[in-house]
Amino acid sequence: MLKIGHRGAKGYATENTIASFQKAIELGVDMIELDVHLSKDGIPVVIHDETIDRTTHYSGFVNQFTAEFLQSIGVPTLRDVFDLVENRCAINIEIKVFVATKPVLEVLKNTKFPQEKIIISSFNWDVLNVCHSEGENISLGVLTELSIEEALTFAKKINAYSINPYFKLLNPENVKDIHQNGFKVFPWTVNNPDDITFVKSLKVDGIISDFPDRL
Ligand code: G3P
Ligand code: CA
Repeated sequence: MLKIGHRGAKGYATENTIASFQKAIELGVDMIELDVHLSKDGIPVVIHDETIDRTTHYSGFVNQFTAEFLQSIGVPTLRDVFDLVENRCAINIEIKVFVATKPVLEVLKNTKFPQEKIIISSFNWDVLNVCHSEGENISLGVLTELSIEEALTFAKKINAYSINPYFKLLNPENVKDIHQNGFKVFPWTVNNPDDITFVKSLKVDGIISDFPDRL
C-alpha cells in the first residue's frame, strides 16, 4: 500500500512548498500529491487555491503573477518539484484548472522525470479527457467527492489508472468493484488514526494523508 503525502507533508510544513515535499521524502513517502494552477506567463505552478492569500504573505489571483514572482514568495513551479524529487518518489499531479492541462503535458514532455512515476488527477474530468487524448502513456486518476459509480463509468471511458475518492465514499463492496474493474484506489485525505485503520482494512492501494508517517 502506497504512502502518499498530501500537498507534500501538509501536517508538518506549509503545504505545496519545497520544504513540504522535502519533509514528505524524509518521512519515506512512495508518492507526493500536489496541486497545479497556471501563472500569468503560462507556467504550471504548485499551489492549491486560486489565490495566493491563504498560503503566502501576499494576496491576489495566482494567474495575476509571473512564475518568477511566485517562486520568490515560496510557490514552486512544477519543474522545481521535479528537480527536487528526482528519483526519490512518484508524483500525483492534481490539475486544478482546465487551462493548466496542456502546459502540464508540455512540462512532462520536456522533463527527465520518469513518466511511469506520474499520475495526473483532477476533479475536472474535462482535464482528464484532454490528458487521455493527448498524453497516451500517462496514468490518470479520477477524483471524486460524490460518486464511486460515476467515477467508475468515467474511468472506463478514459482507461484510467485509479479512482481517487473522498475516503468516506468507500465500503468493502465498492472497493471490490473498483478492483474487479482493474483500477487502483487512492482515497484522500485520511489523517485520523481510526480512519486510517478503517481505510486500510478495505485493502486500498494507497492512502493520501497530511501525515504520511502515520500510514
Ligand atoms: O488529490 C486528493 C485531494 O488533494 C483532493 O482535494 O482539496 O485537497 O485538493 P484537495
Ligand atoms: Ca489536491
